[in-house]
Amino acid sequence: MSERRGTTGYTSIAKFLHWLILLLLIIQFITAWTMPHIGRNTPVSTLISLHFSFGVVILAIAVLRLLWRVTHPEPAPEPGMPQWQVAGAKLTHWLLYGLLLVIPILGWINASWRGMPIVMFGLPLPQLIATRAPGWQWTGDIHSFLANYVMLTLVGLHVAAALYHELIVRDDVLRRMLPGR
Ligand code: HEM
Ligand code: HEM
Repeated sequence: MSERRGTTGYTSIAKFLHWLILLLLIIQFITAWTMPHIGRNTPVSTLISLHFSFGVVILAIAVLRLLWRVTHPEPAPEPGMPQWQVAGAKLTHWLLYGLLLVIPILGWINASWRGMPIVMFGLPLPQLIATRAPGWQWTGDIHSFLANYVMLTLVGLHVAAALYHELIVRDDVLRRMLPGR
């Protein structure tokens, strides 16, 4: 065995769902940044509709992934990893799970508040709150803020940590999330 110590990796389902969510999030940010700015009375164009559709798919997969995660714990930390890194990784993972649920739900609430039809690839979905329900206007700003700033910052940290482990510490942290382990 090489100097990289062998540990068990994630289950194939956990890996598949992890990389699928990355792919869907790339599509989701592309639609978010290219769709027309959403204001009062903006018509739901194809790009906006795609943003809603992919967003709801992400929400559904995040729920599945969370169910998988609570029934299939993460593999034990790499041997010798400092306690602060183990705790930091755990915290980041749970915050990412939280955002994967909260961001699409806030988006769905905001689209409902705006009275926009919410359709997932042709399948009509319910309005979560009444159009212009008082007290819910903030959901759009917080949805965009959490996605553009909080999620992207955390994902940046998460990717930097994975690269640090792969290139500098040279342990198995990245490998155990890659196919074939
Ligand atoms: C994880 C899933 C999602 C991500 C990462 C995401 C990301 C974003 C981002 C980054 C923006 C801001 C675009 C800009 O910079 O101008 C945005 C706006 C918006 N998104 Fe999403 N979105 C997601 C899911 C959804 C869903 C499921 C819906 C509705 C069903 C939705 C509805 C909206 C609406 C209505 C806006 C405009 C908000 C406003 O400016 O008031 N999003 N989204
Ligand atoms: C290029 C992008 C990415 C890379 C290189 C990457 C890498 C990794 C690695 C190496 C692990 C295992 C960490 C460990 O065992 O401690 C992991 C786990 C995890 N990653 Fe990522 N990741 C990426 C993108 C994302 C994105 C976009 C999200 C969600 C927004 C995410 C959420 C998670 C979560 C929640 C875990 C915990 C394991 C689980 O429950 O499935 N990752 N990632």
